[in-house]
Amino acid sequence: MISIEGLGKVAGETRILRGVSLTVEPRTVLGIIGPSGSGKTTLLRCMNGFERISEGSLEAGGVRLEAVLGEKEYQKRVKLLRRQVGMVFQHFYLFPHLSVLGNITEAPVQVLRQPRAEAEARALGLLETVGLRKSWSRYPESLSGGEQQRVAIVRALAMKPEVLLFDEPTSALDPRRSNELAVTLRGLVEQGQTMVIVTHSMKFLEDVADRVLYMEAGEAVELGDTAQILNDPQDPRTQDFIRHAD
Ligand SMILES: Nc1ncnc2c1ncn2[C@@H]1O[C@H](COP(=O)(O)OP(=O)(O)OP(=O)(O)O)[C@@H](O)[C@H]1O
Ligand SMILES: [Mg+2]
Repeated sequence: MISIEGLGKVAGETRILRGVSLTVEPRTVLGIIGPSGSGKTTLLRCMNGFERISEGSLEAGGVRLEAVLGEKEYQKRVKLLRRQVGMVFQHFYLFPHLSVLGNITEAPVQVLRQPRAEAEARALGLLETVGLRKSWSRYPESLSGGEQQRVAIVRALAMKPEVLLFDEPTSALDPRRSNELAVTLRGLVEQGQTMVIVTHSMKFLEDVADRVLYMEAGEAVELGDTAQILNDPQDPRTQDFIRHAD
């Protein structure tokens, strides 16, 4: 569950987000679309504490951040938030010196203090679900872009986050891989995962998202069911964007 109210973000002289309010129900996928520079990545980064919010509040995985909190309390809550909210970055940032298994078990062992054997067993199970169990001993540089991405997803899942955030997960994938990713992600939703996915691909959105948010110039312009936003947008700004999307 995510709940955001009146969220604003100001960096120096620049206002990046203003008055963003939304909720994401558990076990659903929210897709976020909008022109380049509209604030999509920044909003995701606020959701896992990488950016401090300047106004309003944000609650995810039972942890509440408020702009008015003092720095020390805010950082304390960000630490808790990061345990509940995982992020798969646009560029996957796998550790090049660790094997697939090492990449996945690093954080559960170091941060969650899971026994290594337990973390490895769980990692192999998760790799199985994305069709990569046999690749557990390989190194990232030997994997294709799509395979690296699936490892990055498993690495995020290994931390058992309540919410998973994705920034343009299909940007490095061909249409078939993109399709496979949609199937993988829907499978995770069936198992209870809540997700927020920023994407430029309307096809991918149709395949994965329950609801869609259209953003423009730092504002949450329109939020609705996927079919409604794609086929029957109400706000003229959303209509204009959808009309030009491929
Ligand atoms: N730390 C910062 N200081 C000043 N401006 C910033 C900062 N971070 C982001 N911005 C600006 O805020 C705006 C929103 O950026 P953001 O990366 O969130 O957009 P986006 O919607 O993800 O775009 P894209 O689709 O190109 O990835 C951009 O104009 C960006 O240059
Ligand atoms: Mg972005």
